[in-house]
Amino acid sequence: MSETILIVDDEKSLLKALRITLEGKYGVITTETGSNAIKLFQHKGPDLVLLDIGLPDMSGIVTLKEIKEKDPDAMVIMVTAVEDVKTIVEAVKLGAYDYLVKPINSQELFLTVKNAIESRQLKNQIRLLQQADIDRYKFEIIGRSPEIKKMIKVAKKVSKSVDTPVLIVGESGTGKGVLARAIHYSAGKNPGPFITVNCGAIAKDLVESELFGYEQGAFTGAHADGKKGRFEESAGGTIFLDEIGVMPFSAQAKLLRVLEDRVFYRVGGTEEIEVSSRIIAATNIDPEKAVEDGLFRKDLFYRLNVVKIEVPPLSEREDDILLLVEHFMDYYNVKFGKGFTKISPEARAILLQYHWPGNVRELKNLLERIILLEDGDTILPGQLALISNVDEKRNKVIGPGVTDACLDYEKVTGDLIKKALKRTRGNVREAAEVLNMPVHKLRYRIKKFGL
Ligand SMILES: Nc1ncnc2c1ncn2[C@@H]1O[C@H](COP(=O)(O)OP(=O)(O)OP(=O)(O)O)[C@@H](O)[C@H]1O
Ligand SMILES: [Mg+2]
Repeated sequence: MSETILIVDDEKSLLKALRITLEGKYGVITTETGSNAIKLFQHKGPDLVLLDIGLPDMSGIVTLKEIKEKDPDAMVIMVTAVEDVKTIVEAVKLGAYDYLVKPINSQELFLTVKNAIESRQLKNQIRLLQQADIDRYKFEIIGRSPEIKKMIKVAKKVSKSVDTPVLIVGESGTGKGVLARAIHYSAGKNPGPFITVNCGAIAKDLVESELFGYEQGAFTGAHADGKKGRFEESAGGTIFLDEIGVMPFSAQAKLLRVLEDRVFYRVGGTEEIEVSSRIIAATNIDPEKAVEDGLFRKDLFYRLNVVKIEVPPLSEREDDILLLVEHFMDYYNVKFGKGFTKISPEARAILLQYHWPGNVRELKNLLERIILLEDGDTILPGQLALISNVDEKRNKVIGPGVTDACLDYEKVTGDLIKKALKRTRGNVREAAEVLNMPVHKLRYRIKKFGL
């Protein structure tokens, strides 16, 4: 695709001449006023603007200022009738890339335009590389459990095939978003944009325009110049359909058609647009059950379910818990200027024993709170009160009516403790280790159960 140049000049004959000169090589849009130029700049996103300094409605300098406010990286070449040094200096200070003096010599025009476009491409490349580096750092998957290793292996394989849809399933906070990004960024040096759509958060009537965009005047309230949808924005990259399980049923049919045909139309549009993005969908509800309950279209499920990756709950990947704790400890140490380096053995036991209903997100939040609020270098059991009291709390919350379950629970725990004590010949400390339970908790239970 060739670059697009927006030419702004009120001199009709010059506008025509410039258009004819540049049209073969570049896409050209023209307008005669500053206010129109700003609108076109916003909605057409040209790669370069040729901007006359003397415009009828507002000066070229003011126009330049507004364009630069919308996009500080915008490439603008000023065009002037007189070599007015003061104005040109002002334009360059405001960020104009270069200037041309009328009458314009076509060779000089081509050279200046070519330089500007090359310089812009270079800037874009640098920015993309920097961004990819930041993102890669940000979306690293931490884990050494066999489950995570297996997951990463599958993710690496699917990342190689851009048109294979991926369905990620897992409880809230397990890292489905992290995995989706990892697949995207494993694809190669230039993975393109990563666009997230929160399917549950879009108003029912707007799903179509949000996903596929719309043309000028497609419906009341639509922006006058039309708008790109999320599919178009993700072109050449990834569209991440998060919470697909709660997408409105009517929208599911439209999405299915697009996935099958790999083309779509903007709302009110007639031009066929090809889907060129990788599609990753995620859900924290069991998709098979959602299909059974009639909430999720079966055909859409099969379409998305080419590669399904299940992210296991944190409680099922014990090997990752302490690794994640250390990871977030370092992260928040840097963020809050703290110096935590150790986890006491009792704290370790609590962290390992806890069932983590909020998964990695809960663990991350817990570490943020501790590192921010506490001082010292060691994470201690007292700082984990929120998660270590949960069992007792849960029993209290259940209350009367389920006494049988509580009794069972107490009986099983009592039996386990008895066995452990027998094995360690009454050594409480060793028994606590066997039970993966903090000593103070074991002492408390021994007393409570009268053992
Ligand atoms: N393996 C991991 N390594 C590092 N950080 C992780 C990992 N898993 C999750 N996280 C972090 O935990 C938080 C929750 O992860 P994420 O948003 O990906 O979960 P999710 O499964 O998409 O949850 P939800 O269903 O609620 O959207 C994020 O801050 C993420 O950075
Ligand atoms: Mg998520």
